Amino acid sequence: MNVTFPTIAVIGAGAMGRGIAQIAAQAGSRVHLVDNNPDASAQARAALADQWDKLVAKGKLEAAQAQACKERLQVSALSELADCDLVIEAIVERLDIKRALFAQLEDIVAPTAVLASNTSSLSITALAADLKRPQQLVGLHFFNPVPLMKVVEVIGGLKTAPAITQDLSAYVREMGHTPVQAADTPGFIVNHLGRGYNTEALRIVSEGVADFSTIDRILRDQVGFRLGPFELMDLTGLDVSHPVMESIYNQYYQEPRYRPSAITAQRLAGRVLGRKTGEGFYKYSDGKAEIAPEPAAPVVDEMPPVWVSTRAARRSELYQLLKDLGAKIETGQSPSAQALTLVAPLGFDVTTVAVVERLDPARTVGIDLLIEDAATRRRVLATNPATRPDMRAAAHALFARDGKAVSVIRDSGGFVSQRVVASIVNIASDMCQQGVCSPADLETAVTLGLGYPMGPLAMGNRWGPTNVLEVLFNMQTVYGDPRYRPSPWLRRRGAIGLSLLQQES
Ligand code: NAI
Repeated sequence: MNVTFPTIAVIGAGAMGRGIAQIAAQAGSRVHLVDNNPDASAQARAALADQWDKLVAKGKLEAAQAQACKERLQVSALSELADCDLVIEAIVERLDIKRALFAQLEDIVAPTAVLASNTSSLSITALAADLKRPQQLVGLHFFNPVPLMKVVEVIGGLKTAPAITQDLSAYVREMGHTPVQAADTPGFIVNHLGRGYNTEALRIVSEGVADFSTIDRILRDQVGFRLGPFELMDLTGLDVSHPVMESIYNQYYQEPRYRPSAITAQRLAGRVLGRKTGEGFYKYSDGKAEIAPEPAAPVVDEMPPVWVSTRAARRSELYQLLKDLGAKIETGQSPSAQALTLVAPLGFDVTTVAVVERLDPARTVGIDLLIEDAATRRRVLATNPATRPDMRAAAHALFARDGKAVSVIRDSGGFVSQRVVASIVNIASDMCQQGVCSPADLETAVTLGLGYPMGPLAMGNRWGPTNVLEVLFNMQTVYGDPRYRPSPWLRRRGAIGLSLLQQES
């Protein structure tokens, strides 16, 4: 087997090191497995032998290949690594300990050998600071579990030789994974982009707009995320996710877009971590989340007529939908004294729209129509502080008439999906603006690394760059919060309706 790095070492035989050793041996490299705890490396080798036998039993690997993998993997000591072309470090996440290890390795391996770190949060440039050959050090960030998570970030530090990142990308492909090139910036690609989802959802909860299970439902049903942000935090555990939020926020010198939440800080302190402690945002029994049923749509005997704001988003679609739902539609210049008044803002809250359009707030309800109704499995309505209960109930009952799920939230600039999608698209745009990676690598890294329904820039294109820009501009007005300031990348492309994937020539 021809492989870019015929002999490698993996240092650290924990969760990550094992997975890396497995796919490297499968690619055809001879692998030295090293751990300062000899039991750990011996156990890892036995577990990998088991794993290969299982793959044979499932018909995913031939018996001869499994045997060859076992022969290619050996437990070694640090001093036995002189013949390595590449050393991948997956030890404890501490700058001082990793630096000391690389300094030691420089005296053991050949000057041409490549040194790689699987760090998820430390700077590659900082790791290389005291090395004699900093050009040989590179970041190689795998995801957990390594054999299943098919993306690997290849990170060049300030001094890394560019040819090395190319060789490692080729090697990642030989391992059956997809490499993406990231600049040495906090969080690299996946952990950086991931900040939009949780932090904005937490912000929505902290404003009392909706509870966490409603937000999860909305983001699954309207945008197509596999897991809602609160289900995701419960799965990852707040002991992992909250420190990542703090670390990226602080490494970017308190950039408001990444601002963490007091909600997760408190839960972390109280050890309400998620699935691993049996209780997070949801309670778990036998590994299953206890989810309170959704309130049923109210029964309304007498449905009022409906009037739609002249400035509603997707106004003609909304008319058609109302007709399909059997509503009595008013077509006058202004609503009659009985009418339920519908607005469909982008970024603005229902209260602001009612004031600006001189509508009676008591009868005004908002509906989120940023994406077309046919593309979603849920409709989201928002009241304002003055909305009368009968008007709220009428709107809920009307939009649930065809059996589609409906959530009613409190007034919020940008509803739930608009806020979260706009935040993600804005962070993605800013990453392109900063040159963290290419737009194409960003899309690949996020779909493979975070399992989003599509890349964040494609999501922006799908929802319309101009609409996303409008949502952010208006949210900035509603909240006066710099976290919603649009990135220049989005601002320019959104202003002229250009694809967010478009790079400047
Ligand atoms: P782990 O705790 O499962 O394994 C670490 C292993 O390294 C242990 O077996 C330990 O005995 C060994 N070790 C510690 N110091 C050592 C030293 N000085 N020399 C030799 N061996 C040493 O940790 P895990 O989760 O595998 O993480 C390893 C690295 O990968 C960390 O840098 C982590 O940030 C990074 N990472 C972890 C991910 C995860 O989801 N667990 C994902 C991506 C990166």
